[in-house]
Amino acid sequence: MAKIILTGDRPTGRLHVGHYVGSLRRRVELQNSGEFDKIFIMIADAQALTDNFDNPEKVRQNIIEVALDYLSAGLDPAKSTLFVQSQISELTELTFFYANLVTVSRLQRNPTVKSEIKMRNFETSIPVGFFTYPISQAADITAFKATVVPAGEDQLPMIEQTREIVRKFNSIYDEVLVEPDVLLPENEACMRLPGIDGKQKMSKSLGNCIYLSDTESDVKKKIMSMYTDPTHIQISDPGHLEGNCVFTYLDAFSKPEHFEEYLPEYHNLDELKEHYTRGGLGDVKIKKFLNNVIQEELAPIRARRAEFEKDIPAVYEILKKGSDAAREVAAQTLSEVKQAMKINYFDDEELIRVQSEKYQGV
Ligand code: TRP
Repeated sequence: MAKIILTGDRPTGRLHVGHYVGSLRRRVELQNSGEFDKIFIMIADAQALTDNFDNPEKVRQNIIEVALDYLSAGLDPAKSTLFVQSQISELTELTFFYANLVTVSRLQRNPTVKSEIKMRNFETSIPVGFFTYPISQAADITAFKATVVPAGEDQLPMIEQTREIVRKFNSIYDEVLVEPDVLLPENEACMRLPGIDGKQKMSKSLGNCIYLSDTESDVKKKIMSMYTDPTHIQISDPGHLEGNCVFTYLDAFSKPEHFEEYLPEYHNLDELKEHYTRGGLGDVKIKKFLNNVIQEELAPIRARRAEFEKDIPAVYEILKKGSDAAREVAAQTLSEVKQAMKINYFDDEELIRVQSEKYQGV
């Protein structure tokens, strides 16, 4: 069976390093591994509208931001199809048919939807579009017959629901759809990168992000102001790693080569952690190291962004071409779905012949 990737992001803001270690970096690696037959990366604007329907300008502005972040992170339109969800009307048709296979109570049990309803104060009155977005996400994934969905932990309930829809569809109609597997980030730090305040997951609404598009000096300022261990007052004090986000970032970003280059007194992160917990290692030294590590990773991304920013119409053209290509694939799946659901009346000669014979009394 073909190995196909589909994943995407809601265009509600620029992408930050949490998105990067949580998914984007891995997508680029998978893309360049050559192990996949097709890769689809979607800007999920229709899904973004399910909770931003009153702010279409926000979604519109962020299409280009996310596209620039994708391209500068190393997604290559020659290898990956980059497209915009709303431009593929086949996805809404699939959503409508899949809606028959899902109950209201099943949607109510989806943990991600549940917590998002709370977060957005939708408890008393949930927009139907928002409530049913897991069904539309199943359409996104199955339209491309994706086998692998690289995504964060919060997407697990969506993938589970997609798998249920696939099983139900295939058993009622015909074996058309493919059950996807999720591919989670490589470690805990990448899965849930905290914000620079150390409080919660990095998120735009909390204002605790390092953006892929931040300048070198902004990144440095943010890193130097990061939350560490409030009980580590003197350098000689023993430090704590728990909740210390400088170390969480090092878990997500640092490699042994970085030590050789920027901090040769230590061989690896374990040695650094050991010294910190023992006492005698200051925060500033670690922050400077982290800054070197992150700047090394972000510098090429920033440079590529600057190039793409010079020709914005070309970026829109990439999305348009990608959307045209994606539409063809989704249309093929939709046609198979309609055939399986027996709603392909006009291209079914057998049906027309049998009906005709019935009335001719043959
Ligand atoms: N729900 C994803 C997010 O919050 C975006 C998304 C929409 C998606 N459709 C998808 C992700 C299909 C993976 C697969 O960013």
